Amino acid sequence: MALRHLIDLNDCTVRDWDELIRLASDIRLNPTDYLSRCRGHIMATLFYEPSTRTQMSFQAAMLRLGGQIIGFDNPVNSSVSKGESLKDTIRIVSGYSDIIVMRHPQEGATKAASLFSLCPIINAGDGGHMHPTQTLTDLLTLSIEKGSLSGHTIGLCGDLRYGRTVHSLVTAMCKIGGNKFKLISTPELTLPQYVKDIMQKSGCEFSEANTLEECIGELDVLYMTRIQRERFSTPEAYECQRGVFVLDSAKMKKAKSDLVVLHPLPRVDEIAIEIDDDPRAAYFRQAANGMYARMALILNIIEENIELTQPEVTVGASNCPNPRCISHSEHYLPHYFKADAIGKSACAYCDEKAL
Ligand code: NCD
Repeated sequence: MALRHLIDLNDCTVRDWDELIRLASDIRLNPTDYLSRCRGHIMATLFYEPSTRTQMSFQAAMLRLGGQIIGFDNPVNSSVSKGESLKDTIRIVSGYSDIIVMRHPQEGATKAASLFSLCPIINAGDGGHMHPTQTLTDLLTLSIEKGSLSGHTIGLCGDLRYGRTVHSLVTAMCKIGGNKFKLISTPELTLPQYVKDIMQKSGCEFSEANTLEECIGELDVLYMTRIQRERFSTPEAYECQRGVFVLDSAKMKKAKSDLVVLHPLPRVDEIAIEIDDDPRAAYFRQAANGMYARMALILNIIEENIELTQPEVTVGASNCPNPRCISHSEHYLPHYFKADAIGKSACAYCDEKAL
């Protein structure tokens, strides 16, 4: 049987997402029923990039299921600092564990790792590409806060270009259908083309806005994001973008009384702390939900309850055009390509269109 990895939420079906959300909701209400479901299993968390919520919620999730954890939160403390390849690290760690959760600064790194792993790999964020388990957290939060995953006008605000949580969320919401989007960003930080193609292909309704003020009153959900400083090529390029979108109480006065404000966190200055006590601010509840979403996912992968499949790939002659793609630093990787949302050839690691 092919190994079952979660690189992108599309690796499983909308029915599976529903099942995961239903299970996560049950675990949230009855956590003691699940205390020993993963006893005897080991999860490795390999974080090549900083993390608070994702790493700790995964670790807490496994511990609350009765399993155990190994791993690193800084590759400097591992043989990566001696020059070990991703392939070798994964080959070794996957022999010690039943499941690997991995975050890496390069796009497509988890897909690359999955080629060499002896156990399932979960993508906990690969550069500016995807972050499927944050999306599971977001879907669980929306289902709790709004009671449904469709019929909403959703504002996505901030760094839509490098914000991987946005890419995964939009991809999932387009598949679910029945929502409208307002994309609120500067012209430099709009959604990548492959995500826009997914929106267009799915027929999902969207429009762009330059300010929060002009559209906040229409929104049912506002998903704020941090400007991803670490993904900019120069400090000056980041400085031009910071502080453009700030949600404060003056703007909240123009919003609906049942607006739900989400943010994957950490925040820098894009949400004023005066908003934290507003009942519409759901981001701390959202972070708490992350542990339950991850408990449901770990349980399903360990117990093999969900079908996870990977897209078909072909080998191309040239490499991916995206300089942030893992295929540029791990030179042994095959030049894998797949068909994208509109049937064109795209890098199988990072989704960048082939030249
Ligand atoms: C996000 C991430 O790492 O992509 N955080 C998270 O996982 N909760 C968002 C961010 O870093 O801005």
